[in-house]
Amino acid sequence: MDFSELSFQDAPLIKVPPPGPGSRELLDFQRTHEGSAVSYSRGLPMALKRGRGATVEDVDGNLYIDFFGGAAVMNVGHGNPEVVEAASRQLGELTHALDIPTPARRRLVEKLMMVLPADLNRVFFGGPTGSDAVEAAVKLAKSNSGRVPLIAFEGSYHGMSSGALALTSGLGFKEDFLPLIPEVHFVPYAYCYRCAFQREPGSCDLECAKYLDHVLEDPHSGVGKPAAIIIEAIQGEGGSVVPPDEYLPEIRDICKRHEVLLILDEIQTGFCRTGKMFSFEHAGVVPDILTMSKALGGIGLPISGMAYREALDTWPPGKHIGTFRGNVLAYAAGSAALDFMVKHHLADHALELGETMLSWLEDIRKESRIVGDVRGKGLMLGAELVKDKATKEPAPELARNVRAECHRHGLLVEIGGHYDNVVRFLPPLVLTRDLALKGIEIFENALRGCVL
Ligand SMILES: Cc1ncc(COP(=O)(O)O)c(C=O)c1O
Repeated sequence: MDFSELSFQDAPLIKVPPPGPGSRELLDFQRTHEGSAVSYSRGLPMALKRGRGATVEDVDGNLYIDFFGGAAVMNVGHGNPEVVEAASRQLGELTHALDIPTPARRRLVEKLMMVLPADLNRVFFGGPTGSDAVEAAVKLAKSNSGRVPLIAFEGSYHGMSSGALALTSGLGFKEDFLPLIPEVHFVPYAYCYRCAFQREPGSCDLECAKYLDHVLEDPHSGVGKPAAIIIEAIQGEGGSVVPPDEYLPEIRDICKRHEVLLILDEIQTGFCRTGKMFSFEHAGVVPDILTMSKALGGIGLPISGMAYREALDTWPPGKHIGTFRGNVLAYAAGSAALDFMVKHHLADHALELGETMLSWLEDIRKESRIVGDVRGKGLMLGAELVKDKATKEPAPELARNVRAECHRHGLLVEIGGHYDNVVRFLPPLVLTRDLALKGIEIFENALRGCVL
């Protein structure tokens, strides 16, 4: 399929400098009536009207190339016609059923079973957000192991509810709310650009994984035997951090050796984002519990869930409940989205286009004084901005300026990373080469415009 017909052909097109008058009015309304914790509309000040494919339109008629993708939700593209049709059909039938079976629910479970590893043969839908899937996964691990401690990784992001927030490393998110759930410990991730052990990629002996082994082995590490270790196969909010190939298999082995459950959080990386249906497939490992959300609802319909090994299915009815445990519209949309992904080889497209974009970014890095590192897999890419390539001093203000400059020229990007200095690209996977090239050119010009 030629994905170009899914997007606005004229994007990018800036008719009025954003935020234009229509956007300003809605932003003012929001500022006056909504809570001050609203954040995305501060970084990307505009009001949105429509989305098509890998492009969106604001209320002033400006068209943007969307490298933000609703925070890695819109994998099949805004307004994907096949998914919209399936969701619209369901809308007139039934929209809410808690966890009572429906044909739409069965279809989604069947389709998930077709793309999940055979060992993960139990599916469970909880509340509508990724955070809820993380809470459920932790509960499942705790109830199976009878243990309390948990290990997560520096640079992790697992959500905002108390348990998920406890597992999230960013202090800015949680320091006002401590203490959260007890006995959560953090160990370094394989973030090679800023290696916690000051080693160079390629010449290290995976000290970061070895350190985890040590923590689990040493009775004086101060860390009790955990209920689970939770990890992102590629870190998202931590700055699109891709560990070396051997890292995840090593973590899997360590978990097996120490009889600790492994939870892989695929909420951001899942559903073709990194060039495989799930990102752990790159490493050839299978977790004990897998969390999923974001792109599972196809066109942003809220749903989350987990898949796990049958042997863990020991908890009694009602152990994890909620009014919105699953969403019938999202089941229908999710099934159609999975069909679309498989039929149109979306993972392969993401992998190939991602490689091309990474090579363009690498060219930019070589020329630039402020792009310290570029990395990613599939269409989950990042450029880490620094004040000085030698000292690697982070440049968060520069990243914010680059995002603003991109926005003014018709490109939406996200910011993440330990120091909020990584410009992140998470476009809908139906992005075309042409839009990708235009987007990267805008990014490159924005870098030039922001450097003194
Ligand atoms: C890896 C990961 N886990 C969990 C979450 C939390 O999901 P939600 O924001 O839907 O609660 C996110 C959100 O960005 C995420 O990236």
